[in-house]
Amino acid sequence: MTHILKSQQFSREALEKLFKETDTVREQYGSPHSKRGLMTSLSGKIMFAVFYQPSSRTRFSFCSAAHYLGMTSLWTEDAAQFSSAIKGETLEDTIHVLCQYDPAVIVLRHPEVGSAEKAAAIVNKFGYDVSIINAGDGKGQHPTQALLDLYTIQCEVGRLDNIRVVVAGDLANGRTVRSLVYLLSKYKNVSLVFLSSEELRMCDDIKQHLQEHNIEFLETTDLPSAIDGADILYWTRTQTEYGSKKSDLNLTIGIPEMQLVKPGARLLHPLPRVGEISPEIDDYHRSAYFRQTKNGMFVRMALLKSVCS
Ligand code: NCD
Repeated sequence: MTHILKSQQFSREALEKLFKETDTVREQYGSPHSKRGLMTSLSGKIMFAVFYQPSSRTRFSFCSAAHYLGMTSLWTEDAAQFSSAIKGETLEDTIHVLCQYDPAVIVLRHPEVGSAEKAAAIVNKFGYDVSIINAGDGKGQHPTQALLDLYTIQCEVGRLDNIRVVVAGDLANGRTVRSLVYLLSKYKNVSLVFLSSEELRMCDDIKQHLQEHNIEFLETTDLPSAIDGADILYWTRTQTEYGSKKSDLNLTIGIPEMQLVKPGARLLHPLPRVGEISPEIDDYHRSAYFRQTKNGMFVRMALLKSVCS
């Protein structure tokens, strides 16, 4: 694996291997003795985090992951303003220039769909030994988020086959849901429920992918029936930056809704949340979103090790 560009590139076997490595990294991190070795495993290497869109979790978790592996990370948090993009430099030229400083990895977040592929094409064309990691390409994909989401489902539910997953919120514009659905479609007997307002329904390309892979899904606007019997509730916010409007349909999860959810179910959210999960349920064991965030650092450590090896 050189570049990490989209969820479809991962086979079930690759996912299994990555999650085993994540478990190992997590164990090493938790043991003072092994942590010392872990913290020098990628020393001497550099990771650039080049973010043209806002981020808290993704950038900090990549930088923390690099730190705990002994890598140096250098980053720009608003590359649209504070890189030569403001002077008119193309993304291709920026990547071409950054490759001159021999980073092992460039983590890229950019508003354009396909931007990570564009960056990878430059790396490949000129033969640089650099991995491009897509940390969100507009409304396209966010594969490393989906990897940590899937790893969290495995940790929390104990399986990836035979699960019922409700994906709710802005399904039309959310890149995390798109990437997650591609990963879930690799497993057996997965059934999906798309819960959203009429305006923010899941896009046709994803529905077509599911039909081609014989994955059962249904679309609904009814929260109580959607969450009945679900193993995973994956909630998302309205992506107002892409023009989505908050609809009148209230999909907030709070104490009354959690009473309808089965005991073994888990509530996930890529975060940030903006009102769609009530903080009152943060301390419920079934609310797994902060554990999910922590898992992100471990999954990204395993990914960095894998692309740098
Ligand atoms: C997500 C994103 O950037 O797509 N955030 C994240 O990386 N955890 C979700 C979002 O912003 O809604």
